[in-house]
Amino acid sequence: MDYDFDTIIDRHGTSSSKWDRREKAVGVPDVVPMWVADMDFASPPPVVEALRERVDHGIFGYTERTGSYYAALASWMQRRFDWDIQKKKIVFTPGVIVALNLIIQAYTQPGDKVIIQQPVYHPFSYAILNNKRQLFNNQLQIQNGRYVMDLDQLKKSIDSRTRLLILCSPHNPVGRVWTKEELLRLAEICLDNNIIIVSDEIHADLVLKGQVHTPTATLSEEIADIVVTCTAPTKTFNIAGLGVANTIISNSKLYDQFYATVNNAGLEMTNVFAKIATEAAYNHGEEWLLRLLDYLQGNYKFLVSFLKNHIPQISVFPLEGTYLAWLDFRKLGLSDKDMKHFLIHKAKVWLDEGTKFGGGGEGFQRMNIGCPRKLLEEGLTRIANALKEL
Ligand SMILES: Cc1ncc(COP(=O)(O)O)c(C=O)c1O
Repeated sequence: MDYDFDTIIDRHGTSSSKWDRREKAVGVPDVVPMWVADMDFASPPPVVEALRERVDHGIFGYTERTGSYYAALASWMQRRFDWDIQKKKIVFTPGVIVALNLIIQAYTQPGDKVIIQQPVYHPFSYAILNNKRQLFNNQLQIQNGRYVMDLDQLKKSIDSRTRLLILCSPHNPVGRVWTKEELLRLAEICLDNNIIIVSDEIHADLVLKGQVHTPTATLSEEIADIVVTCTAPTKTFNIAGLGVANTIISNSKLYDQFYATVNNAGLEMTNVFAKIATEAAYNHGEEWLLRLLDYLQGNYKFLVSFLKNHIPQISVFPLEGTYLAWLDFRKLGLSDKDMKHFLIHKAKVWLDEGTKFGGGGEGFQRMNIGCPRKLLEEGLTRIANALKEL
């Protein structure tokens, strides 16, 4: 079947965070929004069909996550990652951010230390600081043009209050798909020091050619025992507005603690549409995903060649996973504040500034390339033209 990723779908007036908040958020109504991790593609046809059919029924009462929901999730994990989750415990939450906040509450006390590796998805630090835990940034390092984890620094930072490490795998915003060896080295340090690994694998399905995503919990049984995995169909199938995430846990004590925290927050119920879309996506969305990955690969290739030919001052890191490209603007010599002003007001393109992602983000911008190629071209052309006048 042919899928159309080229048509630009008008999202105005849909209360889209990406499109309809432009004037309010940045004061410029006609910026090309390439910031938040939300794609400008319609969800797979089987997902849209399943939702339509359910809407036609007309009654939207309290809804159960039945066996078919868990079977769809388990079958996906088996097929895509060779990961058997049949015997694992699964906790539903209306999103990964919700899960992260509650995981911190479930496994740590105020003042305990939680490690993250910046630059990283910014709600990690909000979840730690808002819950009054200490944040330790084990900052990623750039080695030979590629981001790596600094495991020596990690070992030195661990003390008696260190309880959790939140891993972003694949890593948003630097686009790394961590190798099995890298994950093993990290996990062994955590095992030796009784640190729970929260593995946020929301981008696991969005892995480009030549890369393989390894779920952290598949490294070994012993490692699985200290891992809590956050997964969701939302990035993969562009259904973030439906609010769904599944946290997969092997260790029954960790499950009990987390489940109690979720239950105490009154979050047990499922949104009917989240359930319908998740099942349809995992059961019937694989072919669409494969075509999407080809398209994203093409967009990344387009980006690389556009930068090379028209904006050689800006470079991009290898994109191994996610649809979020990490651009290095440092050669322009602008401060982060001036860069932001230039992009919004001169180029009229809305990117996510690197500093949003914490330490190591200075001089960088994150660009969402999950959009029709024409839109990507429009954003890049605007930047190239504005730079000529700088
Ligand atoms: C690494 C990561 N985790 C979590 C989320 C958000 O998840 P949710 O919308 O389920 O809260 C995102 C969204 O961009 C993300 O990139």
